[in-house]
Amino acid sequence: MSFKDKTVVVTGGANGIGRAVVHGFSGQQARVVIADKDENAGKELEDEIQESGGSALFVKTDVSEPNSIKVMVKRAVKEYGAIHNLINNAGISEFKPFDELTIENWDRVLNTNLRSAFVCSREMAVVIKTSGGGSIVNIASTRALMSEPGSEAYAASKGGLLALTHAMAVSLADYGISVNAISPGWIHTGDYKKLREKDHQQHLSKRVGKPDDIARACLFLCNPENNFITGENFVIDGGMTRKMIYEP
Ligand code: NAI
Repeated sequence: MSFKDKTVVVTGGANGIGRAVVHGFSGQQARVVIADKDENAGKELEDEIQESGGSALFVKTDVSEPNSIKVMVKRAVKEYGAIHNLINNAGISEFKPFDELTIENWDRVLNTNLRSAFVCSREMAVVIKTSGGGSIVNIASTRALMSEPGSEAYAASKGGLLALTHAMAVSLADYGISVNAISPGWIHTGDYKKLREKDHQQHLSKRVGKPDDIARACLFLCNPENNFITGENFVIDGGMTRKMIYEP
């Protein structure tokens, strides 16, 4: 569908998956707000989209700081007058042996990955409602559902996002907002050519994921025709969490 005259805010939109999401929406004529703390990459992406005839606004934002989010939302509304879709994508991971995980690590990861999604959604909910409704997509992780050692803070933040998703889907139903989560598996944001054959073959899909795999799912969930879908989590991982592993 065309997202002409629709505005989407993508947190962490300057790099990796977020950047692909920004390109995906911009390719469908949306106005995109890139909310990221990486000023160089964010500005460069804003310029790139504007030079190709699209509409983009970069706002330097630290989503772990509630006040920075408020300033960003004000800026977005001032520029575009409306917001329809929010992709809560910004995230960090800090893996540490369990007994070395500090309160600072925990707070940094939880505030960046989870509290940010709550604050962004709270600050934008009424704006989305008065813009005629829309969608929120929270980017969680398959690590919300399964673990390797030392991933407690990250796993908890992503598990929290899944719970936040169904809670907000209920609270924001009367705002005309659908709320869903996407749980990506291995999405390679670096040089895809450097991956080994066994990296690909361990997936049921026989390939590692690409940022565009997640971008297309965001476009699907933000299409107003798909607003019968809400409160759900979509695992997009090439089938990795469906694969049972026993040593032969
Ligand atoms: P990335 O590190 O390539 O990009 C993250 C972006 O978020 C960067 O532009 C960074 O500047 C921004 N960011 C980080 N902290 C921020 C803050 N406090 N305020 C504003 N912006 C901030 O990461 P990637 O791989 O693109 O991941 C995006 C999301 O997808 C994250 O939430 C991550 O947890 C999730 N994810 C990624 C997977 C993968 O395999 N790449 C797998 C599962 C989930």
